Amino acid sequence: MASTKPQLLRNLHVEFIRSLDNKKDSLEYHLTSHLKLNGVYWGLTALDLLGRLDVFEKEDVITFILACQHSNGGFSGNVGHDPHLLYTLSAVQILATLDSLDRIDSARVVDFVKNLQDPESGAFCGDIYGEVDTRFVYVAISCMSILSSLDQIDVDKAVEYINRCKNFDGGYGSVPGAESHSGQIFCCVGALSIVNRLDTVDIDKLGWWLCERQLSNGGLNGRPEKKEDVCYSWWVLSSLAMLDRLHWIDHEKLIEFILGAQDDEAGGIADRPGDMADVFHTVFGLAGLSLLGYPDLKPVDPRYCMTRDVTKRLGL
Ligand code: FPP
Ligand code: ZN
Repeated sequence: MASTKPQLLRNLHVEFIRSLDNKKDSLEYHLTSHLKLNGVYWGLTALDLLGRLDVFEKEDVITFILACQHSNGGFSGNVGHDPHLLYTLSAVQILATLDSLDRIDSARVVDFVKNLQDPESGAFCGDIYGEVDTRFVYVAISCMSILSSLDQIDVDKAVEYINRCKNFDGGYGSVPGAESHSGQIFCCVGALSIVNRLDTVDIDKLGWWLCERQLSNGGLNGRPEKKEDVCYSWWVLSSLAMLDRLHWIDHEKLIEFILGAQDDEAGGIADRPGDMADVFHTVFGLAGLSLLGYPDLKPVDPRYCMTRDVTKRLGL
C-alpha cells in the first residue's frame, strides 16, 4: 500500500516564494509593505534552505536593500520608511546570504547599532523612539557579529541586561519582570550563544520549559496555554538546539505537524493546518524541519537563522 505520510512540497514552496513579488495588487501586499525587507530575508532564507537561491535576481535584491539604507547607517523596512534595528539585521543577513556585504559601508551600520545601546543598562532600543526589548539586544549582537564588530558594543553590559530578564522558570521575557516567551527566549539564548555566555543559562530548567511547549498534536506553542504555531518550530527548536537538548521533543510528531500546515495547491506553510500560508511561517517551518534533520534541506545555524553555508563562509 502506498504511504500516506505527507511529503515536503519543495517545488510548490519555491513557486509560492517566487510569486510573492507579483501580488502587488493584493491587500496583503499593502498591509505588509512596511515589512518588505523582512519579507525578502524570510523568502531568501527559505530558498537557501531549499538550495534554490538561483530563483532570486541578486542585483535587483541588492538595489532594493541599498535604497532602504539611511544616512545614519540604519535600514528601513521599505524605501522611504524610518530605519529600525529589525530591518537593519535583515539587510545585513540578506547581503551576507548573497555574499555581498562589501556593497555597504559597514562602519555606518555599526555606528547606527552602537548608538542604540544604553550605556547604563546595556539594553538596546529598536530605533530613535526608544522602545526597549530583548529582541533588540539579539538583533544588535547578531548584526555586530556578522559584521565582525562585536568589540564596538558593550557585550558584558548586554549580557547583564539579558540576565535581568531571566525568570524563575529559567526562561526570558521582553523586559525585566515580563513573562517567559519562546520568541524572547530564542533572542536571549541566541545572543548568549553568539557571545559564548551560555554559562549564564539555567540549561536543564529552560530545556524542560521549552520541551513542555510540545502539544499532543505534535505542534509547539510559545507559552503555556497558547495554541500551537509553526513559527515556534523555530523559536523553541533553535533554543533547544543551542542548549543541546533538541532530543527532548518528539521529532516525528513535529515533522508531521509542520508538513500538515503546507498549502498543497499554492505552496507555502501556514501557522497551523487549515490556515492561510505566508512567507514568515514558510521559512520558520523549513528552518524547523532542517533542525529536525529532514532530508535534502541545508543545515541551518540555530544562532542566526541563516544556512550554515553562510555562517561558515563568514567564519562564525
Ligand atoms: C514571536 O512573536 C517571536 C518573537 C518575539 C521573537 C522575534 C525575534 C526577532 C524579531 C529577532 C530576529 C529573528 C531572526 C530569526 C533573525 P509573535 O509576535 O508572533 O508572538 P505571539 O505568538 O505571542 O503573537
Ligand atoms: Zn506564528
